[in-house]
Amino acid sequence: MKEVISTVKEVVRIADNVYSLTVALPEPVGEVRGGQFLNISTGDNSRLLKRPFGIVRAEGCDVTVCFQVKGEGTQALANARKGDELSVLLPLGNGFILPESAKNIVVIGGGVGIFPLVPVISGNKDKKFYSYIGFRNRGCACLLDEFGKSQKLTIVTDDGSMGEKDNAVNAYLKDRENVKADMIIACGPPVMLRALKAQLKEKGITTPCLVSLEERMGCGIGACLVCVCAKSDGSRARVCKDGPVFNIDEVEL
Ligand SMILES: Cc1cc2nc3c(=O)[nH]c(=O)nc-3n(C[C@H](O)[C@H](O)[C@H](O)COP(=O)(O)OP(=O)(O)OC[C@H]3O[C@@H](n4cnc5c(N)ncnc54)[C@H](O)[C@@H]3O)c2cc1C
Ligand code: FES
Repeated sequence: MKEVISTVKEVVRIADNVYSLTVALPEPVGEVRGGQFLNISTGDNSRLLKRPFGIVRAEGCDVTVCFQVKGEGTQALANARKGDELSVLLPLGNGFILPESAKNIVVIGGGVGIFPLVPVISGNKDKKFYSYIGFRNRGCACLLDEFGKSQKLTIVTDDGSMGEKDNAVNAYLKDRENVKADMIIACGPPVMLRALKAQLKEKGITTPCLVSLEERMGCGIGACLVCVCAKSDGSRARVCKDGPVFNIDEVEL
């Protein structure tokens, strides 16, 4: 993990209210696992805390994240200009660690939760991915080329404006007899992860399942305890340092 000053290369609008930001680091990024994230300053000293985003692409010195504009920090990043300097801390967190034996991976993503899943697909060419991704509507859909690298891709939307009117968890469950999954990986809003956990339990599906969690963060490196989540055994974990990826049975959702 290192903290460096990066230079903005480009900011591109990729969907309604969603942007892709590529920054150049002073040195090559090194290896980054899908699900790892970075903490980035938002270019204004009035916002001291860096913002966490899943790393979508890391090639040479260039790193790309994609984000939805939520509040002041993400709005400032959307307004960033080529050449702006932003401080970056990376790579952070554990990421999705896929065992060698898992060959067929089901990918379930909802909304901005799809972003950390992209490098898992592009970085594991020896595995087959079956992706089920959900968006609010057609205007929110993005990175479809990246998910198109999957063996199978199912897109659903809340309003049916693209693909079936459904959510990503249901889309997988309806199709699950057709996919012999060795592992499930998922990232999305808490309501989606809760539904996934409940459905796996209800249907007696014992396929190992990893989920990436989002919590409000401070330091991003395990020191401030802002991001703690409850574990099923009653203990607590730091999402930034012990996660953000956990076994779904390991955490309270
Ligand atoms: C590990 C991790 C990976 C993430 N990856 C992505 C991603 O790839 N794309 C994306 O669009 N979003 C992602 N998020 C959420 C993103 O960090 C927040 O949307 C963003 O920090 C909001 O900042 P803001 O200043 O616009 O919002 P404000 O609401 O103004 O933020 C105020 C403070 O709350 C924090 N905060 C607000 N919402 C969140 C949130 N959902 N999670 C964590 N902190 C939050 C901010 O960091 C900031 O410190 C991720 C969050 C985590 C924890
Ligand atoms: S954000 Fe500080 S401990 Fe996780």
